Amino acid sequence: MGTVRDEIDRRLEPWFTALAGDRTPYTNHVLRVLEFCDALYAVGGGSGAVPSSREEYLTAGAFHDLGIWSAGTFDYLGPSAELARD
Ligand SMILES: [Fe+2]
Repeated sequence: MGTVRDEIDRRLEPWFTALAGDRTPYTNHVLRVLEFCDALYAVGGGSGAVPSSREEYLTAGAFHDLGIWSAGTFDYLGPSAELARD
C-alpha cells in the first residue's frame, strides 16, 4: 500500500477529468475525513489497523461525495454509494 494520498489518488484517477479544478480540494477533503476517522478511532481506544489503512475506509472516503461530479447533482448520496459499491 502506498501513502494514504496515493491510495485516494488511485481510486479517484478515473474521475480526475470530471473533478477538474475541484480535484485537489476534494482530495484534501477526503484526506481530512480519514484523519478525523483515525483521530476518533484513537480517542475511542481502537487497537489494530487505523481506519486510513483499511480498504473500506479508503473506498468510502474516496467516493463519499463523488456523486456531485459523477452525476452532476447535490442529491449525491445515492450516486456516491453506487460508485463505492461498484
Ligand atoms: Fe464530504
